[in-house]
Amino acid sequence: AIENKKLFILDHHDYLIPYLRRINSSTTKTYATRTIFFLKDDGTLAPLAIELSKPHSQGDEHGPVSEVYVPAYEGVEAYIWLLAKAYVVVNDSCYHQIVSHWLNTHAVVEPFVIATNRQLSVVHPVYKLLFPHYRDTMNINSLARKSLVNADGIIEKTFLWSRYSMEMSSVIYKDWSLVDQALPNDLIKRGVAVADPSAPHGVKLVIEDYPYASDGLEIWDAIKSWVEEYVAFYYKSDEALQKDPELQAWWKELVQVGHGDLKDKPWWPKMQSRGDLVAVSTTLIWIASALHAAVNFGQYPYGGLILNRPTISRRFMPVEGSAEYAALAKNPEKEFLRTITGKKETLIDLTVIEILSRHASDEIYLGERDGGDHWTSDAGPLEAFKRFGKKLAEIEEKLVKKNNDETLRNRTGPAKMPYTLLYPSSEEGLTFRGIPNSISI
Ligand SMILES: [Fe+2]
Repeated sequence: AIENKKLFILDHHDYLIPYLRRINSSTTKTYATRTIFFLKDDGTLAPLAIELSKPHSQGDEHGPVSEVYVPAYEGVEAYIWLLAKAYVVVNDSCYHQIVSHWLNTHAVVEPFVIATNRQLSVVHPVYKLLFPHYRDTMNINSLARKSLVNADGIIEKTFLWSRYSMEMSSVIYKDWSLVDQALPNDLIKRGVAVADPSAPHGVKLVIEDYPYASDGLEIWDAIKSWVEEYVAFYYKSDEALQKDPELQAWWKELVQVGHGDLKDKPWWPKMQSRGDLVAVSTTLIWIASALHAAVNFGQYPYGGLILNRPTISRRFMPVEGSAEYAALAKNPEKEFLRTITGKKETLIDLTVIEILSRHASDEIYLGERDGGDHWTSDAGPLEAFKRFGKKLAEIEEKLVKKNNDETLRNRTGPAKMPYTLLYPSSEEGLTFRGIPNSISI
């Protein structure tokens, strides 16, 4: 199964275990988790086993204490399995909110916004290319720092990582790489795709029916083609780019000051070729638009029922023979509710994710620009941008068709909610779709 790439791991262990003793010293009680999935012939994933680990009571030198749970469908064992899955989901919701959402989109884009405004003139072509993707980002990040990710703020109060949330995100940031954020690289790194130059997007998906990946690759390619045309219009040679003092100053500030903690990492592009500029701009636009849309606007649709997406656990797994185990057998639902996020925290969490999942009435989506055609007087880029918008509309039609294809079972799942998060367009409100140009919520 491993050789045939049928086994997958959802690993919430290594980054969490160093913090678990401290996290569990408060009212929360949880585990580091590793979940093994098997890719079935029908293209869906089934969990095979969950390992729950916690620090050894006699000290870290003894290594973590782990228990493995396997699926069960009857009796109290079925509720033990349900609880095991809940511990996994708690870790997943924390990682999702604090790393996939806050760190990997909101936080990493901020240095780009600052360096662009400080180093590039407003008439510089690269400024014009990137600035629609910065709209409202500094504003929303400032609001987040006032009430969401601040000390004693909503995230600390309603997510398991509590007062360690920002510290853990900054530890995880040490391994962040802009290059890995290019979607094809990200998919390869996560083991869900392999490089394949003959495939339409340069990668072949290991899980073919993986909606985020397959829709995302279409959007990624559309962004990349648009950026390539745009860059080729303004830079006729690599030398011209090397000799552009504004561009070089922008890049230097971004790497050395904005992402200063990572400035010595060998993976930074050197910004010496048009290929470097295309790669960096495509990745930045991808992060600010589609990646943020994919992690943000499904939060309420997928997580609005706390039973599906708990953010905290308050009790350990009941041990066979204990009073808690007997209580679970007798009244499993009550015991489950006693374990996951409490009522007050649930209300706060759901209110926040409902607000985050809504599009504002004046939102501007990928393929659109504020003020119509007046952003440039150069016909080439204007036409290329129109082609980009048309391409996105075609992709949307294609995604609608995919969602109507019943053989693609992962697109709807048992809850019959088709994967619409990467449809580029949307109306105002909580629509479960739409890719805004920028991180604005
Ligand atoms: Fe967001």
